[in-house]
Parts: sequence; structure tokens; C-alpha cells
Amino acid sequence: MTFIRWTSALELPNDEVNEQHRELVARLNAFHAALTDGESGGEDPAAILAFLVQYVGQHFAREEELMAGTDYPHSEDHKAEHRRLREQVQERSQAFIDGKAIDGNDLLELLKRWLVQHILGWDAEMATHLR
Ligand SMILES: [Fe+2]
Ligand SMILES: [Fe+2]
Repeated sequence: MTFIRWTSALELPNDEVNEQHRELVARLNAFHAALTDGESGGEDPAAILAFLVQYVGQHFAREEELMAGTDYPHSEDHKAEHRRLREQVQERSQAFIDGKAIDGNDLLELLKRWLVQHILGWDAEMATHLR
């Protein structure tokens, strides 16, 4: 079962950003599969999550680079939002990776919520400006 289905609503007017968002969704789906129904082909959920956290950092940095090249008026707020999300995600993901008592399903829901909301809100507005 697919955890997050890629829909046209998630498609923004920037190909590079879309490609990275698709990768994030794919990794989150892989994490879900590894946790829930053994569809991961033996992939370790902690390893998938570690990659996801690292890729989120890379992706945010790329968006910040794209915004820096323009006169986008909300880039500082968008960057602050990235910082906030990273702190939240890093802290909880690290606890999971370290084997602490963090419920994988709570973590999945958190990741899904912030990813989808961030794409539909902050990123959609940014991509429209970058167009
Ligand atoms: Fe963003
Ligand atoms: Fe994004």
C-alpha cells in the first residue's frame, strides 16, 4: 500500500523542485513500507530514515539557493520554516535511529503532515514566484 500518493496537486511550476519532492515522497513511502509490511526488500528503516533526513537538508539548501537568486520577499520566512522543520524532524528521527522509544507510526504521520503541508503552502508560493 502506498503511504503518500503523488498527485497533480503536489506538482509545482518548477521541475527541479518537483523532482526532489518526488524523491522525498518515494523515501517516505519506502520508510512506511519498511515499518509496516515488509515490502522494503530487507531495507533497514533506520537507514532509510537517515537518508531521508540528510536529503531533506540537501533539498532545503537547494530551495534556499534558488530563492537567494531572486528578489522573493518571503525567503527569510521560508528559511526560518525550513530551520524549524529540520530541528523537529532531526530530533525525532535521531531518537528513532538511536533505537529510543519513538513510535514509528507517529513519526510517519509527522513527516507526512509536514512534507505535504510545506509543499502545498510555502513551496507552492515560492515556485510560483520562481517561474
Ligand atoms: Fe521549502
Ligand atoms: Fe520543498
